[in-house]
Amino acid sequence: MLVNVWPFKTAQPPGWPSVLGPLRVAAGVIRLRPVRMRDGVSWSRIRLADRHHLEQWEPSVDVDWEARHNSAAWPPLCSSLRTEARQGRMLPYVIELDGRFCGQLTVGNIAHGALRSAWIGYWVASEVAGGGVATGAVALGLDHCFGTVGLHRVEATVRPENGASRAVLAKAGFREEGLLQRYLDVDGGWRDHLLVAMTVEEVLGSVTSTLIRSGRAARV
Ligand code: ACO
Repeated sequence: MLVNVWPFKTAQPPGWPSVLGPLRVAAGVIRLRPVRMRDGVSWSRIRLADRHHLEQWEPSVDVDWEARHNSAAWPPLCSSLRTEARQGRMLPYVIELDGRFCGQLTVGNIAHGALRSAWIGYWVASEVAGGGVATGAVALGLDHCFGTVGLHRVEATVRPENGASRAVLAKAGFREEGLLQRYLDVDGGWRDHLLVAMTVEEVLGSVTSTLIRSGRAARV
């Protein structure tokens, strides 16, 4: 049997490309699928409309928000995400709600070998906020990381002021490990971030099944 461990013996890294879900949450049915070149129009429309909702939580970049999010900015970004994915360093997913683009979930800095670790991050359109979309997406992403991808640890960093994201991480079962002082340049300043993490030993069955047992999601 060919075991696809790092360094990979097959053309594709474990777990990529793949579709995750479906899963029913309060807002509808969600699914994660790889980013596509034709996502540019939806991505640009939501990112431009939601600047106020998103910018305060995202890393500072020198290029203006409008220029960074016109639809012409998507193809090179999508291409670089897919290159990282093919090399086994990233899982760049689109979150779909009832078949429509509504956000992104990314697993990055994937380390193989003895570390088997990565970070997870996400954003969701403001028009669907509060419907359990991000929590369901994180649950699907974590189960994939701990299952097919074979990771041992997934971590996330979040600003203490980001109540909605902290709620998502708590509902998914992350554990707080500490405060990273002046960790990241976000929204024009060096911001403290909480470090949260989960290792595979902490997962009881699966993250998705725990969410379902808590009444926050259902199988489709
Ligand atoms: N304080 C505390 N809790 C809040 C707040 C707040 N200000 N606002 C909302 N909430 C709660 C909601 O009540 C809900 O909890 P509940 O289900 O117990 O009622 C929870 O936060 C949100 O859960 P979901 O509905 O699963 O999340 P949603 O789909 O609305 O997405 C997200 C949340 C991703 C944070 C969205 O608001 C967003 O995209 N924000 C901007 C970008 C961002 O912050 N991304 C995360 C960066 S940190 C990281 O990636 C690790």
